[in-house]
Amino acid sequence: MDSTHILNNEIEEQIPVNEPARQEYFMDKCHEIVEEMIIKNGKAPTFHVSTFGCQMNAHDSEKLSGILEKIGYAETEEESDADFVIYNTCTVRENANQKLYGHLGALKKKKESTDGMLIGICGCMMQQPEVVDVIRDKYRFVDIVFGTFNFYKLAELLYKRLSGEKSQVIEVLAEPEKNVENLPEKRKYTFKSGVNIMYGCNNFCTYCIVPYVRGRERSRTPEDILSEIKCLAESGVIEIMLLGQNVNSYGVNFLEDSEIISNNPDYGFPELLEDVCKIDGIKRVRFMTSHPKDLSDKLIDVIVRNPKIARQIHLPFQSGSTAILKAMNRRYTKEDYLALVDRIRAKLPDVSLTTDIMVGFPGETDEDIQDTIDVVRYAKYDQAFTFIYSIRTGTPAAKMEQLPEDLVNERFNRVLSVVRETCAETSARFEGQTKEVLVEALNDHMDGYVTGRMDNNILVHFPGDESLIGQFVNVHLDEAKGFYYLGTRTE
Ligand code: 5AD
Ligand code: SF4
Repeated sequence: MDSTHILNNEIEEQIPVNEPARQEYFMDKCHEIVEEMIIKNGKAPTFHVSTFGCQMNAHDSEKLSGILEKIGYAETEEESDADFVIYNTCTVRENANQKLYGHLGALKKKKESTDGMLIGICGCMMQQPEVVDVIRDKYRFVDIVFGTFNFYKLAELLYKRLSGEKSQVIEVLAEPEKNVENLPEKRKYTFKSGVNIMYGCNNFCTYCIVPYVRGRERSRTPEDILSEIKCLAESGVIEIMLLGQNVNSYGVNFLEDSEIISNNPDYGFPELLEDVCKIDGIKRVRFMTSHPKDLSDKLIDVIVRNPKIARQIHLPFQSGSTAILKAMNRRYTKEDYLALVDRIRAKLPDVSLTTDIMVGFPGETDEDIQDTIDVVRYAKYDQAFTFIYSIRTGTPAAKMEQLPEDLVNERFNRVLSVVRETCAETSARFEGQTKEVLVEALNDHMDGYVTGRMDNNILVHFPGDESLIGQFVNVHLDEAKGFYYLGTRTE
């Protein structure tokens, strides 16, 4: 055995095997290197995380930022100022992939002229082996590549690179390995926070790549979730957004043993929501996303009983056609969906419904589009995200006969114009009322204005200053402007 080998073994022995101790060890090791950089350059190296896609990714990015700040990096608003740029990617639609390659092309030039600059890519796109092959072959200047199942390992992977690894550091796991709790997190807002209640999805809608890139459904225990929220409340958080691909099936598979569950095997999302509402300091609770097939009457009753729960339900319907819904494997019919809308509105007359709609799924006909338009008109959404179906390799729908692009574009525009018209009409219904608004930020475009959200998630801009950020205030809704309001504070 030579001396280097002994040394390596000694180092190996010091590295904790269990998490989060292992990542804390690597955060300290990176910190030592960053301290040297600070002495050499007279300032902390900077980072910027660019996030694509959904709330899940946005929340993962807060964890990446927390790790980097612990290491000693300083966050910068502008990607162009950053010494370490991370792209947290989305792959739900093909154009997300194209966007990433465009960004990387531009970053290459900057990296060539900036000493010591680092580039990392992570997130859903990296879970596709063919994408990682492209990064390995054509984007060799990318330093670190990791996936959705091991993003908590950022410090360990960064340490490899910072301590001299010359080739790309690539680590993508095919399956979730373990869940790591209690890592640092840098929240975008001090007064509101997302909290994961579950990871992955078991639904396998035939168009969707999420179950492949985020894995099977895994729920965190109520103990872990509630203790995280208590800590957040103690640190001043007043609004919580519970996050999962399908929150209504919370509790199908737990990640760890749980006493609460052993005592009450029926504990599910409604029970969790009620327990979250009981936490002192939490004033507003949101959740997303709800799958229409799993939204129970029990849940509606819990919302009715708890004024802390926002009167907004994101209820993606995708298509109004029962035949297309069947081909999508959504497991509800047009009639089931409309009946659910009725049940919700009967008990929560003021609720804001929001949705996702897809146009262009294989086999869709003009009659199917008419069904979609029917649902849009009937459900009266406050907001609807309308997408053109995008073919995702590996999903069942990718093997079906695809529709011509021109036809889909024409239908998409037809649906979009009904969506715009009906959403503007519906979301204007609060004009003249006074509503409670949580102030989020200074207004980007109007001096002397702040921007906040009503409990139904609609934005309100009104005169105010920085001191209001993070507070609930009552605002008179003077004028509906389509998807937002202009208002005046009433107290
Ligand atoms: N093409 C277009 N839109 C998609 N979505 C999911 N998969 C696809 C796809 N292949 C949409 C759905 C979902 C939202 C998050 O993204 O409407 O609800
Ligand atoms: Fe995708 Fe369907 Fe799961 Fe939503 S419920 S993430 S659309 S598979």
